[in-house]
Amino acid sequence: MKKAIFPGTFDPPTKGHFDIIKRAAKLVDKLYIAIAVNTAKKGSCFSTEEKQEMLQKITKKMKNVEVIHFSGLIVDLAQKLSADCIIRGVRAFSDAEHEFSMALANRALSKIETLFLVSDEKLSHISSTLIREIAYFGGSLEEFVPKPIEQMIRKHLKRK
Ligand code: COA
Repeated sequence: MKKAIFPGTFDPPTKGHFDIIKRAAKLVDKLYIAIAVNTAKKGSCFSTEEKQEMLQKITKKMKNVEVIHFSGLIVDLAQKLSADCIIRGVRAFSDAEHEFSMALANRALSKIETLFLVSDEKLSHISSTLIREIAYFGGSLEEFVPKPIEQMIRKHLKRK
């Protein structure tokens, strides 16, 4: 049974992430979507619980997908879950340098392989930072996030 982990900060998850999740879930028997709790990235906008709910909502029909969260090294999580590989989406050449260095570091730490899926070109301009900014200024999110996530983002902003 082939198991893979798709890690990320998902702040919030985007249509770009969802595209990678759908395609990765077809390649493996089990796909863990792993929300990184403590990363070098500063101040998460959405809580881990909100991110988990968002990801569960959009993947509820995908029987081989499980949403989890972790802190610490991704290689330790991979070992704990006996995962065979890490999945990452690559949007553009500008992502490549960062992604290659993470993949090389992870392989040096534990021999785990990273599989890269090239993002859908129609979604390659999307980033979570961009979405947070558009949401903050009241713009439409239809193009960028799945509908249930848009509703949750709006709810989150109302509470603030
Ligand atoms: N797939 C992935 N990201 C996409 C995407 C797609 N198809 N389309 C757009 N993106 C965006 C994301 O929205 C995000 O945007 P943002 O920077 O505005 O938030 C950006 O691409 C990538 O973010 P993310 O997927 O969260 O990756 P990251 O570079 O922040 O790395 C981890 C996050 C969790 C993978 C990494 O930090 C990690 O493994 N941490 C655990 C600690 C560890 O083991 N560190 C050593 C690693 S060598």
